[in-house]
Amino acid sequence: MEQSVTVRLAELSDINDIIKINRLCLPENYSFDFFYRILSEYGFACAVGEVEGKVIGYALSRLERPFSTFIGLSASKGHVISIAVIPSHRKKGFGTQIMKYGMQKLIEHGVDTIYLEVRVSNVAAVEMYKRLGFYIKREFKHYYRDGESAFVMEWGRKQESEESEEAEV
Ligand SMILES: CC(C)(COP(=O)(O)OP(=O)(O)OC[C@H]1O[C@@H](n2cnc3c(N)ncnc32)[C@H](O)[C@@H]1OP(=O)(O)O)[C@@H](O)C(=O)NCCC(=O)NCCS
Repeated sequence: MEQSVTVRLAELSDINDIIKINRLCLPENYSFDFFYRILSEYGFACAVGEVEGKVIGYALSRLERPFSTFIGLSASKGHVISIAVIPSHRKKGFGTQIMKYGMQKLIEHGVDTIYLEVRVSNVAAVEMYKRLGFYIKREFKHYYRDGESAFVMEWGRKQESEESEEAEV
């Protein structure tokens, strides 16, 4: 039988599952306090996916407010900090569903731009982000501790609506 994922907002009680998945799936690991802070402050933009009641993936994001200018405050940006799906549940569309849910929550909180960093060698993630409408904005040389470079990828609401207008013509 095909499994489905239930995506919901992450809660503080999910923290140990999130940390376990993070350590299993990524070399970029953070302290308990870091995860606690993100979930406490930005839980409204953090998502987990559950299959049969078990957390199998997460996407954590935060809001970043730009400095104010003379003409007022511009919109906050969303920053995807970390996302992962456990190996046994990959390539089933679950990562996409978890990301979409988190992006929607960021948009509901006034964000019109979302960005993230990804290893240039991480084909799976780069492809998933492209399918979600992100584009490679620039390369950040030697971004990671081991010296690997990152792509900074960005999704923009304006760019998205321009694309759909073009498609409608
Ligand atoms: C990146 C990751 C979250 C994707 O999760 P997922 O649930 O497997 O992704 P999806 O099934 O939603 O895949 C969506 C699309 O991404 C692309 N994709 C996913 N895995 C891929 C792979 N191994 N190779 C190439 N493309 C891949 C495909 O285009 C796929 O669409 P398709 O299945 O219709 O071809 C998962 O591979 C992961 O947890 N990796 C380790 C952690 C990580 O790298 N996180 C990102 C850090 S920036």
